[in-house]
Amino acid sequence: MILQFEPMMTEDCAKAVYDQVSSNWIGFGPRVKEFEDAIAKYVNVNNAIAVSSGTSALMVAMTALGIGLESEVVVPDYSFIAATNVVRFLKAKLILVDINRNTLCLDVERMKEACSKNNVDAVVFINHNGYVGQDLLKVVEYCRENDIKIMEDAACALGQWYNGKHAGTFGDIGCFSFSVPKVITTGQGGMIVTDDGDLALKCRKIIDQGSVTWRKDGYHVGVGLNFKFNEILAALGLAQLKNLDRIFAMRRTNYNRFINRGLNLHYYPAEINNGPWMNILLDVNAKKLMEKLAKHDIQSRMYYRPIHQSMGIFSYNYPEADRVYENTLYLPSSFSLKSEDIDYICEVIQNG
Ligand SMILES: Cc1ncc(COP(=O)(O)O)c(C=O)c1O
Repeated sequence: MILQFEPMMTEDCAKAVYDQVSSNWIGFGPRVKEFEDAIAKYVNVNNAIAVSSGTSALMVAMTALGIGLESEVVVPDYSFIAATNVVRFLKAKLILVDINRNTLCLDVERMKEACSKNNVDAVVFINHNGYVGQDLLKVVEYCRENDIKIMEDAACALGQWYNGKHAGTFGDIGCFSFSVPKVITTGQGGMIVTDDGDLALKCRKIIDQGSVTWRKDGYHVGVGLNFKFNEILAALGLAQLKNLDRIFAMRRTNYNRFINRGLNLHYYPAEINNGPWMNILLDVNAKKLMEKLAKHDIQSRMYYRPIHQSMGIFSYNYPEADRVYENTLYLPSSFSLKSEDIDYICEVIQNG
């Protein structure tokens, strides 16, 4: 069976976890700080805050931005549900906006229209399939002009730069995920990044019972919970980071092999040079093709339902999200995919 995705757990990763457990320091400590510093350096931001998941990162970041009961937040209609659920959980008003058919990200013109009709406090830009580019710059420019906060959900976009700037660092705050199918994985985990020191401090308080000093002074004047990361997973994350170049090289090679065999994969701007997160086949009958591939022991998957559909909302307002959902298929995208696997997948799609 060719799996749709499997992570790359090298011996180094196993050793890092073993060594960390053997050290007997497994809670919160210096390894977490080391992992935060490594990510901050890699994406070139002043602050990185490690948390328990990508969803925790979104939750903490949005709370730090001041989103709550009276707030209004724009979220693209096509992506994983996490950012939407954070908006709903915080009891803010959710404004879903359709996506652009090329980028598969928030459509800029539709976003502007939604902002002009509502009193929007924040826009969530989801860097779908690792996208960073002109449309993101346009969203940032519009939001800056209109005093709207921008949160980037860069869950799948580690390693993607545009004009020398890394995904997740274009807006006020950005969030990464380290769950299993992500660029690097710690099983579960997430990271918040921001250049804004005040926002970073707010996040640090929210992730640890409302205070950064309570262990010394015992006060919890602010309110927070526990979203902290831990030493074992930080050690694994640091080991995974060492594999980044290999991971990107494999992603690029695999993507190019699919393209060279003539498959119509999701457009990928040449200046974003670390390969797409997943190999997404466009303009097919996704359900039918998934069944055909399964018969040949090839696992693929349809992406998540458009958010409005998944929430049980019937609407014609999101034609691109509806279309993309039915007509795109996530092909095998493991780093370990062999060239003969790719040739076989292409053969089944084209001739099988
Ligand atoms: C775009 C996006 N945002 C957020 C998340 C949530 O991350 P996590 O599963 O680490 O909570 C995911 C996870 O799949 C995702 O794909």
